[in-house]
Amino acid sequence: MHKGLIPVVLVLTGFLAVPPPAAVQDLTWQSFKGYDVPYVPTPTEVVDEMLHLAGVKAGDVLYDLGCGDGRIVIAAAKRYGVKAVGIDIDPLRIQESNANAAAAGLTGKVRFIQQDLFETDLRDATVITMYLLTSVNLRLRPKLLADLKPGTRLVSHSFEMGEWRPDKTSLVTTSFGDERDVHFWIVPANVTGRWEWDLAGGDRSIHCVLEAAQEFQDVTAAGKEGDWPLAVGDIRLTGDVLSFRIDTEADGKMVSTLYEGRVAGDRIAGTVRPAGAAKAAAVAWKASRDPRTAVSIAK
Ligand SMILES: C[S@@+](CC[C@H](N)C(=O)[O-])C[C@H]1O[C@@H](n2cnc3c(N)ncnc32)[C@H](O)[C@@H]1O
Repeated sequence: MHKGLIPVVLVLTGFLAVPPPAAVQDLTWQSFKGYDVPYVPTPTEVVDEMLHLAGVKAGDVLYDLGCGDGRIVIAAAKRYGVKAVGIDIDPLRIQESNANAAAAGLTGKVRFIQQDLFETDLRDATVITMYLLTSVNLRLRPKLLADLKPGTRLVSHSFEMGEWRPDKTSLVTTSFGDERDVHFWIVPANVTGRWEWDLAGGDRSIHCVLEAAQEFQDVTAAGKEGDWPLAVGDIRLTGDVLSFRIDTEADGKMVSTLYEGRVAGDRIAGTVRPAGAAKAAAVAWKASRDPRTAVSIAK
């Protein structure tokens, strides 16, 4: 990219949407250093909201991708006592992060790794934080969807993930007087394909089939009970928890049933109960999927 374009690009991408503080005024080609994203630190109030929106809690494993001076990792470890790891490609940032961790009394309690974030093994993460660029988020998206466990929470300062819409967004007013978005996503389980189960119905067992398609966290499905089509509504997928309503006709009356279960690979285990009867006993529900019918959601 032509060096003269860089300040324009930074304005357009949100890094310089308002007059920046002195520390980030000199965002030139030097700031990019040939890496994917320039170094621009997240203001403290935005760090606080990122950790809050991600619901960071004891037992979490947090990775900050492109950790800069380590501020998000240090705040997470200090306030929530979680295992936190910072990844940055720039050795200078790793040096700064280690020095800042030492000053905060966190040596040995946090880890900073000099590495390309595209090559980092993220499989043990439960929370990912990012302040990258939309173009970088989009390149990273297939890896996040393929490698992270369903239910892993992601937060991004300012930048989005294209068609993968955030589950929540909050707006933070900074001490610089500008406003920043913080976006939040939950990694969805892959529920695509053909699911089958049997339900006890009076003196017979009913065979049910659900064919599901999925775009990120949005699921559409069509169902069948024996040869009868079923109306499937209110489908919700939050991490590995899938719920939906099935409407059927029985003895000339419409009957709605609520399903909720946890997805683990090609199995779902949960409960089913009649809708509108909160007190009705839920019965166990188990469904299984033919693995050959599942398609990748990592794109
Ligand atoms: C905008 S800063 C964010 C710093 C920190 N996360 C924060 O919010 O304060 C982006 C960081 O990503 C780093 N970076 C850029 N490309 C990278 C890559 N491919 N792998 C790892 N880090 C990268 C930069 O060195 C920079 O420190």
